[in-house]
Amino acid sequence: MSVRLATKGDRDLFIRLWTEYTIQNHKNGSDVMPTSKTLTYFVGLFDSFVSGDLPGIVLIGADDNAVLMWGAATQYGLPYDSAYGFTAQGFGTYVRPSFQGKGISKELRKRAMKLLKRKGFDSVFGSAYEKNDAGYISGVKFGFEVVQATGILRL
Ligand SMILES: CC(C)(COP(=O)(O)OP(=O)(O)OC[C@H]1O[C@@H](n2cnc3c(N)ncnc32)[C@H](O)[C@@H]1OP(=O)(O)O)[C@@H](O)C(=O)NCCC(=O)NCCS
Repeated sequence: MSVRLATKGDRDLFIRLWTEYTIQNHKNGSDVMPTSKTLTYFVGLFDSFVSGDLPGIVLIGADDNAVLMWGAATQYGLPYDSAYGFTAQGFGTYVRPSFQGKGISKELRKRAMKLLKRKGFDSVFGSAYEKNDAGYISGVKFGFEVVQATGILRL
């Protein structure tokens, strides 16, 4: 299976894949809304990771049918000292529906781990919503330890 680092030339492809991802993830329970503000934020991260302005990576896999973006939203990672060390955020992994169930997310995540270690990261925080079986189960099977329960208090 092909996995490669995204380049500046992949910006339009990233936008297409990330738009599908946010729509799908929102249907699966994520609070992140598939709006232009959301997309602008993630495309900004894509630009920063690909140009090297921020430490992080974007991977493209399965002949342009899958994407992963992991990295830090600021130059020095989290804005506090974490017990998990220099910690990246798992912004997302998306595999187009007809390519799912073939081990593609596993390949992307394996490669992402190696690349982030080389960049000096110690760990990655990822989250999945309760209704998202594929996101949650594939993450736990990959090796993510469940360390936190997150709640929302509606005001
Ligand atoms: C989550 C997602 C990235 C998984 O990608 P994938 O390439 O289909 O997953 P893989 O084929 O690599 O499967 C990895 C493991 O998860 C399991 N898994 C995948 N989807 C599953 C599902 N719907 N239900 C239960 N287990 C599932 C696989 O059986 C496999 O287990 P194994 O290690 O025992 O073989 C994909 O379903 C997706 O893009 N979903 C929409 C976006 C999303 O929710 N992203 C994650 C946000 S947290």
